[in-house]
Amino acid sequence: MTTPDLPVVEGALTAFIGGSAVAELQELLERCEDFEVLVTGHPPDPHAAADLLVEVPPDHPLRDKFVIGVWTEDGLTAAVDLLRDFPAQHIWYLGLLLVAPEARGSGLGERILEALKTWIRGHGGRAIRLVVQDQNPDALRFWLRHGFVQIGKAAQELMDRTNQVARLELKL
Ligand SMILES: CC(C)(COP(=O)(O)OP(=O)(O)OC[C@H]1O[C@@H](n2cnc3c(N)ncnc32)[C@H](O)[C@@H]1OP(=O)(O)O)[C@@H](O)C(=O)NCCC(=O)NCCS
Repeated sequence: MTTPDLPVVEGALTAFIGGSAVAELQELLERCEDFEVLVTGHPPDPHAAADLLVEVPPDHPLRDKFVIGVWTEDGLTAAVDLLRDFPAQHIWYLGLLLVAPEARGSGLGERILEALKTWIRGHGGRAIRLVVQDQNPDALRFWLRHGFVQIGKAAQELMDRTNQVARLELKL
């Protein structure tokens, strides 16, 4: 299977993040320390960006993983981590949508989501799934407002803590 073209986000540029942008991605993750602390209890470690680029579930091929950067006039302002055909064919799993703190609440997240829906649909995806931690009600509100529905609850086991999460799905 070939690598798909890119989602088109109104007012921003997008690119797949590979080795050359890893330092920019690391900087973005560190600017978004609030989110990492909320989810894991720790700030991002110095290899967080490099790890994110290669993290896939067991037996899932790296070619079905896409880390996409969104650049505005202020530089790398948001990042997306997506898995194609996970956990099943035609389902795309959104592991991360992260907008820089100073850019939140101004519609960028919504524009990225709209771009992703079009792009994923264009590549045969029929649903987007994700999880949101119970301690992140702002994000839950964002997803529900954009049509995601809760399809279950789960426990997310991290290194040294367990999060309760809502499992959400948007049919495309
Ligand atoms: C959730 C997120 C991707 C939304 O992107 P965004 O550009 O802020 O979203 P928009 O401007 O299109 O919409 C704003 C809505 O986002 C939600 N939101 C979540 N966290 C927010 C924050 N820190 N600041 C502002 N809005 C936030 C709210 O629901 C807000 O709506 P409200 O006006 O009802 O409060 C973004 O806020 C973010 O990156 N948050 C931190 C990381 C995160 O929680 N990601 C989701 C993981 S499941």
